[in-house]
Amino acid sequence: MDRKIALTGDRPTGCLHLGHYIGTLKNRVALQHQYDQYVMVADVQALTDYFANPSKIQESLLEVVADYISVGIDPNVSTIFVQSQISALPELVMYYMNLVTTSRLERNPTVKNEIQQKGYGDTIPVGFFCYPVSQAADITAFKAEIIPVGEDQLPLIELCNEVVRRFNRTYNTDCLKEAKAQLSKTSRLVGIDGKAKASKSLNNAIFLSDSADTVKKKIWSMYTDPNHIKISDPGRVEGNVVFTYLDAFYDEKDEIENLKAKYCKGGLGDTALKSLLNDVLQKMLLPIREKRATLKKKDLLEIISEGSKKAAIIANQTLQEVRNAIGINYQSML
Ligand code: TRP
Repeated sequence: MDRKIALTGDRPTGCLHLGHYIGTLKNRVALQHQYDQYVMVADVQALTDYFANPSKIQESLLEVVADYISVGIDPNVSTIFVQSQISALPELVMYYMNLVTTSRLERNPTVKNEIQQKGYGDTIPVGFFCYPVSQAADITAFKAEIIPVGEDQLPLIELCNEVVRRFNRTYNTDCLKEAKAQLSKTSRLVGIDGKAKASKSLNNAIFLSDSADTVKKKIWSMYTDPNHIKISDPGRVEGNVVFTYLDAFYDEKDEIENLKAKYCKGGLGDTALKSLLNDVLQKMLLPIREKRATLKKKDLLEIISEGSKKAAIIANQTLQEVRNAIGINYQSML
């Protein structure tokens, strides 16, 4: 049976959190039965930020793989692999770089944002600057058609498709395939402080690997409504992180609506609300935590070794087609 190929990935720069879970991980668990799914740990892309601090990546790599497997990405169904182990990828990048202009990269909204955030000014490292080209190599090497990602990745997929069209036109081939983003319903989750997107660097996220105790502490520290002091006070639902998380993770939508109404009117305390969220999240995280506890380092290493071997074969096939199309496959001319 020929199934469409889906490719996703994450940079290993820390453990994955509830934002990843609701944003892409849950989606991937479902999609793995629908598509031939590749899940890439993007350690090379992470190096564009952490080149001087690679231990961060080493420490996170197996944690991310453990996160994948504990949420239900099944290594017997999906191919979990590591970017740095696929040598065809950087070679593809070399060929694709000829097809992309610097102004196109500069104008890419995702790249533009990051240049600002990182404060690069006019000292942009070439490695960082080219990571969207590298991402195009990731996607095209597997002829992936479906890319389940968050909104922030859309401009990168657009750039990938520009490379695909340009390559196919330039070398008169159809060996590369265009890809389509598949957005999940919730693509960002606010942090427990209510200020920004949940993220490891802002230390405002609940991690899938957090202990039950830590989860509870984080819920108890969640931003609610600073003016809601007495239980009888009317409270605000908007911007109230506990409600945001209930909306994201609790399936009883009618009950949430009732609680919201009661909270607005006055008569519902934060503690009762936080207890409910704690029950909901603990119930969801327990099987994930239990699964994680069974995973051994050796098994994780074996999974990425097997996955990377399989992924390397596919990427090499595409690389040969690309070399053929350009006309530099001298081996095959013998
Ligand atoms: N850019 C993605 C992130 O930061 C990771 C990634 C690398 C990726 N290569 C990819 C995602 C290819 C989808 C497809 O999370």
